Amino acid sequence: MHDEIKLLGGAMVTLGLATSALVVVPFLQLQGVEPPAGLKPYTSAQLRGRAVYIKNGCIYCHSQQPRDKAQAPDDKRGWGRASVAADYSYDRPHLLGTSRTGPDLFNIGARQPSQDWHLGHLYQPRAYTPGSIMPSYPFLFEIKEQADPGDRVLTLPPGFKPPGKLVVATQEALDLVTYLQGMDHTYPVFQVVETQKK
Ligand code: HEC
Repeated sequence: MHDEIKLLGGAMVTLGLATSALVVVPFLQLQGVEPPAGLKPYTSAQLRGRAVYIKNGCIYCHSQQPRDKAQAPDDKRGWGRASVAADYSYDRPHLLGTSRTGPDLFNIGARQPSQDWHLGHLYQPRAYTPGSIMPSYPFLFEIKEQADPGDRVLTLPPGFKPPGKLVVATQEALDLVTYLQGMDHTYPVFQVVETQKK
């Protein structure tokens, strides 16, 4: 019986230490962090697009966390400054990601603002990046004989349009692209970093 109590006590201490290191201490450190002045809350279209991003598993190949120079050459890859906690103020849940089969997307809106490019790339990544291993998302588009009023018809590179037909973006594709275009965390965060140090 004596050993069981020791085992249980040891397990409780280990669990308590882990909880305080991973939950309590980070909570105390980050609870006062304010959203940076340059960060805008998501619009409703961006939030819908974010849900499409989650639903389609983009996170399995794309991270949203450029790292510090000391950890990885992310700035040289053009992915932007290292992200800080405040950058995620409006992210519920955050979409940090752990895998980087594709590039980090935390600043994709800043380096690729074109709606045409994003729509075409989602319809067929290989039309824009030869040999890309990103899956295409044809179910986010409709193939039509003729465009209806208000339709967003894709301008694809030659050879990627279905012959004699049109490719039209669905609302989901448009929302997803609005979300991607809004991914711009290039504003300065010096003040935020100062606040965190206090
Ligand atoms: C199987 C892995 C994989 C999945 C899943 C995936 N991607 Fe990609 N993605 C890539 C790779 C690899 C590239 C680089 C080649 C290219 O540009 O196509 C890329 C490139 C991109 C780019 C261009 C990045 C740049 O820096 O030019 C965007 C934007 C993008 N993906 C968005 C998405 C979105 C949105 C989804 C979900 C709907 C998604 N990806 C799902 C692998 C993936």
